[in-house]
Amino acid sequence: MASVEDLARLKASHPMLDAVIDEQEGRRIRIGDHWLADFASCNYLGFDLEEEIIDVVPEYLARWGTHPSWSRLLGSPVLYEEIEALTTALLGSEDVLLLPTITHIHTSVIPVLVGNGVIFVDGRAHKTIYDGASIARGHGATLQRFRHNDFEHLEQMLKGSTLTPRVIAIDGVNSMTGNAPDLREFTRLARTYDALLYVDDAHGFGVIGERSPAELCGWGMRGNGVVRHQGQSYEDVIFVAGFSKAYSSLLSFLALPSRLKDVLKVAAPPYLYSGPSPIASLATALTGLHVNEDRGDRYRYEMYRKTRRVIERLRDLDIYTPNRSGYPLIEIPLADHHDIDVVGRYLFDRGVYVTMAANPLVPKDEVGFRIQVTAANSDEQIDLLCEVLGEMNDRFELRHEHLREPLLRAREEERA
Ligand SMILES: Cc1ncc(COP(=O)(O)O)c(C=O)c1O
Repeated sequence: MASVEDLARLKASHPMLDAVIDEQEGRRIRIGDHWLADFASCNYLGFDLEEEIIDVVPEYLARWGTHPSWSRLLGSPVLYEEIEALTTALLGSEDVLLLPTITHIHTSVIPVLVGNGVIFVDGRAHKTIYDGASIARGHGATLQRFRHNDFEHLEQMLKGSTLTPRVIAIDGVNSMTGNAPDLREFTRLARTYDALLYVDDAHGFGVIGERSPAELCGWGMRGNGVVRHQGQSYEDVIFVAGFSKAYSSLLSFLALPSRLKDVLKVAAPPYLYSGPSPIASLATALTGLHVNEDRGDRYRYEMYRKTRRVIERLRDLDIYTPNRSGYPLIEIPLADHHDIDVVGRYLFDRGVYVTMAANPLVPKDEVGFRIQVTAANSDEQIDLLCEVLGEMNDRFELRHEHLREPLLRAREEERA
């Protein structure tokens, strides 16, 4: 418990952690008698609220029942084949394998890929990647962590190890900073040193995609993820993402060569030993893929436009955020991590629901809160958020890009 002390304290006392949500209306939630604008949802495209998607569920349940509880190795409803085919076409990959969650994928596929070899994990990769790598270590692999996005450090490690097979594991769009790695450099290193690049793009899939002269904004089109967005191929790359964020469905996938898919069907435990996704999620993922092709770019543009308003507001207020990409995850660290409780309470009282970024979710010097913008947040909610950010800037010690850093430093020196 000592390692999760801050989180445990907040969980026990804070209305924005472990909350019971009594009701939802659009992107508004009610906790007790208090209504809040929800900026903690990862339902980026707003498909959780899309009538066309909600409406298909009863028809699928009537045909398939609520849950196909066969092991996938015994049999799978044809919906899986349909989703795999559509996702393969969307990504432009050789093949796709569906599994229930990304956590399942990391904890089962990473150990298979690494075997007795070595896995190099980015220092800021998602906890679930680290867990998968730790399981691989338990099976005899070597686990090494390189500094976040530090190519020189990674290259030193690649040069210094003779173990094979070798896997480099990173996040796509990072779940806290909102930034994406430079995949050209990562794929170059992977190919030079005979490694597989394993990318978890939970937050990029559905949000960013292939570039095109017809794109409505710099996030690209079709939301087919960071690999396509950066114009990279899937050679020596395993691309992992899920439907549980942008597509609001409990389902995830790997883009991979068909040969590896065949291997994983017998070697990756969830395909044999775990239950599958519920039919409702298969139905909403499948319909979501159609809606994405039909009007996903319009929703992405909405998300982009609203995110840009928030980022411009932060810029006007000179509030620091690590977000340099403009993608819809905006973390705002506090100058003093002890303030998280009061800051969170203020946001709650003002009707703004965010993700509390407490330690160990983020390092102590980045403790703060994270805003996520979805296509379904209304302009009025963005107005409210922008207003509250101004109030917070007056009331609390946030970190600043330029103006206030010298002031803070002077204060720190004074305290020291
Ligand atoms: C980057 C990243 N990877 C993996 C996960 C876990 O995904 P799943 O819920 O599909 O296991 C998350 C969820 O928050 C995430 O942000």
